[in-house]
Amino acid sequence: MTGDPFGDWYDAAGVRGGTRRLLRDETEQGLAYFPEKLVPYLDHELVKALGPEARRDLTVRHLYQFLLATTHLETRIVNRGAERIANNRVGLHLPARTRMNAFKVYCDEGYHALYSLDLAEQVEAATGVTIPGWDFGGFTRRLDDTAARLLPDAPVLAQLLQVVVFETLITAVLNELPNDPGVVTTVRELTRDHARDEGRHHRFFAAFFHELWTGLDANRRAQAALALPAFIEDCLRFDTLPAERSLTLAGLAPGDTVTVLADTFDRPQRLRENAAATVRMCRSAGVFDVPGAVEAFAGKGLIDG
Ligand SMILES: [Fe+2]
Ligand SMILES: [Fe+2]
Repeated sequence: MTGDPFGDWYDAAGVRGGTRRLLRDETEQGLAYFPEKLVPYLDHELVKALGPEARRDLTVRHLYQFLLATTHLETRIVNRGAERIANNRVGLHLPARTRMNAFKVYCDEGYHALYSLDLAEQVEAATGVTIPGWDFGGFTRRLDDTAARLLPDAPVLAQLLQVVVFETLITAVLNELPNDPGVVTTVRELTRDHARDEGRHHRFFAAFFHELWTGLDANRRAQAALALPAFIEDCLRFDTLPAERSLTLAGLAPGDTVTVLADTFDRPQRLRENAAATVRMCRSAGVFDVPGAVEAFAGKGLIDG
């Protein structure tokens, strides 16, 4: 099955053979629920002053934000696009294998959403830190707004580009969290399970993007080349509303919360590093041959101008 990212899916996918991860509470061993260095506001002077208990609760709520944003993105953004490919509703001629692979993505993402929610519920039961009843899907609105602005007459293409971008970014969380010895084992195991499946998705969507790009006419390519860097930024820019509310819950005064957010979220974290694989994929497909594309990517800080 060389060349097929899903050649071993029936045996290797988490949803096929994985085990349900049950939380072991290891806070007494000094392990954190999320890598503290990946909670951007945790080391701010004003946050440090809140004391260790508040910082622990902030870390737990940051894990909730990661897990629940995952559930929203997987089911509302990734599976929206995967369904289009799977049911051959993209306006391209798609081979049956591509369609079935898109259904494999669909199954994987449904399962990732399920176990992310499952873990959040287990952490709530173990820690007593309530999962706030907020909308953790702020990303999805931002992506849809960008689509309406930059691809107003091509909603399906926008959905496909959003999926391709989201699935080819390599974020620090999936990459680094599984190997962080300072983090609770169950959180690391679940993230490792997830990262394994995402490796297959990455290969699938990078190949799909080349096919998609080849089928676009010059006008659509011009629109897509401008939309891609905006989607990349949308996916990597932190959703600050849950962070703002979490800081308020931790007891930070409103004015201080504004200061902390301004100091830590003035630009997307590690944008270029996390987007490197996506930018490489765009380059190899020929996106930078489109006039204005280099400037658009450079304008978002993704490449040098
Ligand atoms: Fe996933
Ligand atoms: Fe995925």
